[in-house]
Amino acid sequence: MPEQQLRILINQMSIEEKISQLLQLAGPFFEGSESQGEITGPMEALGITDHSIRNTGSVLGLTGAKEVIQVQEAHLKNNRLGIPLLMMADIVHGYKTIFPVPLAIGCSWDMDMAENTAVIAAAEASAAGVHVTFAPMVDLVRDPRWGRVMESTGEDPFLNSEFARAFVRGFQGSDLTQDRSRVAACVKHFAAYGASEGGRDYNTVDMSERQLREYYLPAYRAALDEGCEMVMTAFNTVDGIPATGNRRLMRDLLRDEWGFDGVLISDWGAVKEMIPHGIAAGEAEAAYRAIQAGVDIEMMTPSYEHHLKGLIENGQVDESLLDEAVMRILKLKHTLGLFDNPHRGASIELEQELILSETHRQAARDAAAKSCVLLKNDNVLPLKKEQKIALIGPFAQSGDILGPWSWMGSKEEAIQVYTGMVNLVGSTNITTAQGCDIETGTEAQLAEALLAAQHSDVIVLALGEHSEMSGEAGSLADIRLPQIQLELIAALQSLNKPMVAVLFNGRPLDLHGVYDQVDAVLEAWYPGTEGGAAIADLLYGRQNPSARLTMSFPYSVGQVPVYYNHFNTGRPQGAPDAQVRYVSQYLDIPNEPLLPFGYGLSYTTFEYSEATISSTTMTLEQPLTIKVRVTNTGECTGEELVQLYIRDLVGEVVRPVKELKSFRKIILEPKESQEVTFTLTEEQLRYHHSNLEFKSDFGDFHAYIGSNSRDVTELKFTLTK
Ligand code: BGC
Repeated sequence: MPEQQLRILINQMSIEEKISQLLQLAGPFFEGSESQGEITGPMEALGITDHSIRNTGSVLGLTGAKEVIQVQEAHLKNNRLGIPLLMMADIVHGYKTIFPVPLAIGCSWDMDMAENTAVIAAAEASAAGVHVTFAPMVDLVRDPRWGRVMESTGEDPFLNSEFARAFVRGFQGSDLTQDRSRVAACVKHFAAYGASEGGRDYNTVDMSERQLREYYLPAYRAALDEGCEMVMTAFNTVDGIPATGNRRLMRDLLRDEWGFDGVLISDWGAVKEMIPHGIAAGEAEAAYRAIQAGVDIEMMTPSYEHHLKGLIENGQVDESLLDEAVMRILKLKHTLGLFDNPHRGASIELEQELILSETHRQAARDAAAKSCVLLKNDNVLPLKKEQKIALIGPFAQSGDILGPWSWMGSKEEAIQVYTGMVNLVGSTNITTAQGCDIETGTEAQLAEALLAAQHSDVIVLALGEHSEMSGEAGSLADIRLPQIQLELIAALQSLNKPMVAVLFNGRPLDLHGVYDQVDAVLEAWYPGTEGGAAIADLLYGRQNPSARLTMSFPYSVGQVPVYYNHFNTGRPQGAPDAQVRYVSQYLDIPNEPLLPFGYGLSYTTFEYSEATISSTTMTLEQPLTIKVRVTNTGECTGEELVQLYIRDLVGEVVRPVKELKSFRKIILEPKESQEVTFTLTEEQLRYHHSNLEFKSDFGDFHAYIGSNSRDVTELKFTLTK
């Protein structure tokens, strides 16, 4: 249906019908929903009438082919003009087959794999009736106190942008109208939600526009460049105005400057939240602010529903703003093919065939193996089948390994660590004990663990945070493991046996009491449905760890935010002429994080040759090539991630001490070596100047090559005319 026909449809709609297209409500509001009626109370509280529901434009969080089809059918009957509902849901890292959390996927640095996780998530969700997913979340994150860091791919704008593109490609494919196995993507949370002050969820964000553009905006932009259909507003303020009512951000930047013409949806309740934010006296003013900013869909609050008509009638809002929003929503319905086939991909048979299929499970297992980061290994891993293992800890036999954004995933379907190990090597050499719960424990639990450990060759500890300790509204001020788990480590240490810690958590932790106490640490994050199988693969060397951190692990929470691409300050630590005291430092802890961005170990070792650069001068036309030879000097096949960083030594504004510009993953057999070549162009040296112009500076640069952002070799070059 081309725009002209949609315009005819809009002309047939009453003002009330148009306004209700802008409303998004949860499934139980609708006829045909199996939980219908449960929401009668809230419906009254929201002041939503039957008329509104009959004309609502979209539904939140309703899945399952049978129910979705029922609701859509009832709606088409109830809706005067037969306009289908859009079904939206959070399919963040899998629908029923749960993949590792996005922060873990980030650590794979593997775009094809990331894309494939989204392809599978889309296929399962689409068969279950979903049309749009509220993903990818691409907020740049620097503060592990914020529970939502697990939804992001990390602290680097370039890498986050690559992942944003990969996820959008995976969710949407290249033809949403024809390809019903895909869903539309909605990039979130626009903008800079990841910079909430103090890591406290929903908190203020305030930063210079240059900082916003340089670090926080690129990943949203990348998602849109890849064709992402929708954008979600953030809960936070941006320069004093909540994003949802921020006209400069939404109209001037997103729509006018970037040319985004898709649907903009508020986050849950974010329109009405302008009242407690203190920029709207009531719902009517909140509605006014949101429609002026260009918010098309209001999620879960009725400010538009109650007030838009009045605002239009009294001349405060031009009806063309409403028509514009309706047009964008109808266009998306058209792009998804809903006017021709309102049930789209929903199919009870397909749903059964796809969900948790062998292929999907295998993909989840591979993804998890590629996402767990080996943080330490003092000659204890990989384990040998003959070794007697005591598997101890609250995650030894727990299904809580899917992560906080896996609402459709089932913990019962998840492969636990114990099961994964037993499936791989049999049960003869593995004993298990819980040791303690996540936050509490008893003497009896500890005694049982000590007994199990006494007869073992190696103790494997499965420790972590339960999934409620991260995710939305999951901020923490203390990011160490719960005290009882630290006590468990200390108690087991008295046995003097090799100890391996496998960690399940949604954020970089302060690893005091863990990293310094055990011989090996495997960061498993929340690895998803096949987590236990993948961890067994890694522990026993069936797979070789290859993941690398995309968010720094702080030395302690007092350093936070700590990130690799920081500025130098006028008094950097360690400069040749630095004083002892009056430098930028902490008196009690180092400046550096415990584990830097890009860090991760393998069961093999890699040696880097001296890197070479094709010239010491770069011109606008003449890029440079940088080469390094990497050799596998260990005993097994392994994957190395070769990273290229730069530093602009003299900028027009201060520049970060390192910026990731490129990376390459290579697989090497023992003794094999490979030359890795990077091309560096002038374009990669550009940044936002004080007047926001995006350009490079002539002058001196460093390039760095290495296996993480700390351990690098330096090369020098100059950009000249
Ligand atoms: C979250 C969003 C999510 C939405 C819908 C909000 O609370 O911030 O990320 O998409 O709920 O579930």
